[in-house]
Amino acid sequence: MRDAHPNIFLYICKFKYSFMKEIVLSGIRPTGNLHLGNYFGAVKNFIRLQDNYNCYFFIADYHSLTTHPHPDDLHGRVRQILVEYLAAGVDPEKATLYVQSDVPEVVELYLFLNMNAYIGELERVTTFKEKVRKQPDNVNAGLLTYPTLMAADILIHKSQYVPVGKDQEQNLEKARDFAARFNNIYGVEYFPIPQAFNFGNQLVKVPGLDGNGKMGKSEGEGNAIFLAEDDASIRKKVMRAKTDSGPTEMNQEKPEPIANLFQLMSIVSKPETVQFFDDAYNNMTIRYGDMKKQLAEDMIQFVTPIREKIREIDANDEYINKVARMGAEKARESARKTIKEVREIIGFKPF
Ligand code: TYM
Repeated sequence: MRDAHPNIFLYICKFKYSFMKEIVLSGIRPTGNLHLGNYFGAVKNFIRLQDNYNCYFFIADYHSLTTHPHPDDLHGRVRQILVEYLAAGVDPEKATLYVQSDVPEVVELYLFLNMNAYIGELERVTTFKEKVRKQPDNVNAGLLTYPTLMAADILIHKSQYVPVGKDQEQNLEKARDFAARFNNIYGVEYFPIPQAFNFGNQLVKVPGLDGNGKMGKSEGEGNAIFLAEDDASIRKKVMRAKTDSGPTEMNQEKPEPIANLFQLMSIVSKPETVQFFDDAYNNMTIRYGDMKKQLAEDMIQFVTPIREKIREIDANDEYINKVARMGAEKARESARKTIKEVREIIGFKPF
């Protein structure tokens, strides 16, 4: 009995401390396997944050329906992202790892936020305009209100920090607007105003291999290097990456495809390696073939342990199911509390 006291004390401290920790949230759509852009733009931060913050990381399966209304294997894709989160280092004992559709309270908050979101401001969101161009036959209301659903994800746990890549910056701006507007309209200081977050202070945009733009899950064959990708395929994609015929002057500014290769190298290679090729570029002795070979090997070295973990976790159904159930339970508990309070603030009362 005497021994129990310090344990109880520790337990109470841990319990209290978890309430005092600041709240972090982020999500990933299950529209394809995780790639280096997802990892270096977002997941790398998740792993560092989970030690000191109360973290919620989830799989945005509702969101995926805005672009993939008839997914061939929705459950399989969700499971894959769950496995990849775990393999990349998200620890379900430290962070709450869950599936968005396991927390239907999010949808109720989405509805409330939509009541105070205006068509004009939603139509001006750049990603909406891009999607309208990309899928003119399916400009659905879910696409238009994508930022309010995202704000609901963030605000359902009253999150303060949202680790995301640069492409999510505008969605985060909208979440800040919607949080502030709710507080204003109902005259409360209820929702914190969430901030986009990156340990390096600036949000990251990892480029793709096709010469322009960002690495993306659906940017076309050869653009992205996936965490689950095998060595031969990585080598093939990198060797095919777009380059040019080489610098024509000493210390010339790098055109986009070359700058992108250097940026990718700075992410996965040692600083000396980047310096070596940078010097070679500046004195015009660079051989892109050598640079790409090195880049491919360094990517392989980075990806290999994660890929092995993906295979190991993927074979363990029992563990995956346990993680998903535990995450759903924890996320719902927090979401229920918020929805109850939001209903009261707006003025709904049970009879
Ligand atoms: P998604 O699934 O497109 O991407 C997941 C995360 O990866 C980041 N990312 C990148 N970062 C740097 N360079 C890249 N090339 C790159 N590609 C992707 C994204 O910025 C993101 O952080 N709307 C979100 C999902 C979402 C969400 C949320 C995020 C739904 N609700 C609430 C945060 C909070 C999305 O489509 O991410």
